[in-house]
Amino acid sequence: MRHLLGTEALSRENAIQILDTAQEMAAVGEREVKKLPALRGRTVVNLFFEDSTRTRISFEAAAKRLSADVINFSAKGSSVSKGESLKDTAQTLQAMGADAVVIRHWASGAPARLANSGWIDAAVINAGDGTHAHPTQALLDAFTMRAHWAKLSGTSSVGADLTGMRVVIAGDVLHSRVARSNVWLLRTLGAHVTLVAPPTLLPIGVEHWPCEVSYDLDATLEAGVDAVMMLRVQAERMNASFFPSTREYARRWGFDDARLAKLDALNLKDTIIMHPGPMNRGLEISSAAADSPRSTVLAQVRNGVSVRMATLYLLLAGDLRENTTTSTPAAVNNTVPNAKDPS
Ligand code: CP
Repeated sequence: MRHLLGTEALSRENAIQILDTAQEMAAVGEREVKKLPALRGRTVVNLFFEDSTRTRISFEAAAKRLSADVINFSAKGSSVSKGESLKDTAQTLQAMGADAVVIRHWASGAPARLANSGWIDAAVINAGDGTHAHPTQALLDAFTMRAHWAKLSGTSSVGADLTGMRVVIAGDVLHSRVARSNVWLLRTLGAHVTLVAPPTLLPIGVEHWPCEVSYDLDATLEAGVDAVMMLRVQAERMNASFFPSTREYARRWGFDDARLAKLDALNLKDTIIMHPGPMNRGLEISSAAADSPRSTVLAQVRNGVSVRMATLYLLLAGDLRENTTTSTPAAVNNTVPNAKDPS
């Protein structure tokens, strides 16, 4: 596998290989010196045509922890504003010696275009394209769920999937690349996924996705859930009114204080609350829920660095194989002793 463009075609073997390698990388993050020499002499370009905090910074941290040289490119303030094309921008970066291009773009399909165009030789990693896919977000979410699931069962998460886990993904599914990437990856890892949204915020064809669909958040909680992932209402992608008011949205679709209390009332003491960020506090999630002990929001951010280290490592220096048994590359084992389950 040369590129990471989405999760739909990602095999279970490759997904678990990335998660297991990320677990090794997490151990590096707990050391006093958080660096590995694995990508010394390699160049990673972060090519961001859309705003980002978590993804851009964590890819930069990941590349630096692997000793790669990092070039950060933001469309704002670049020659893109003078009309330079994606092809010319990419080829300019290629001429500077990029080994990997991490791309976020407002157009669905831009990373695939870059990977399949022959314009560049570098590995392409999709850091979020339009409403299409955000594979490293789904992988860091799965990493977070896997650590929680393993802790509950008292087993190691190495080599494990999410078989039996019940995941609810709620909110603005229509505009969410996070939801799409999660649905495919979670299905591959054996979890049971239910999407919850107002009918206006569900995409056409969702009935063909490998998940259940509901309009009733309370009913899905009452049915039992191990992880609730709240999605950001993406106002910047809405050119029409998709719900009557923010107050109505929060009441019907938000994870508010009443629903936080409901988890306790239902004796769902181990259910976690997730959000990819950035959060609209008071809209899709209340502050009490976002800051509660159930919340994994900051753990997701932390795990993002490990997952992105694993992705860069496996694509540039490792061996991201198709349909083989999983194992952590020897080069990582040699440099990252004593891996342990992240919290
Ligand atoms: N979750 C996520 O992609 O956040 P950023 O937009 O801040 O990168």
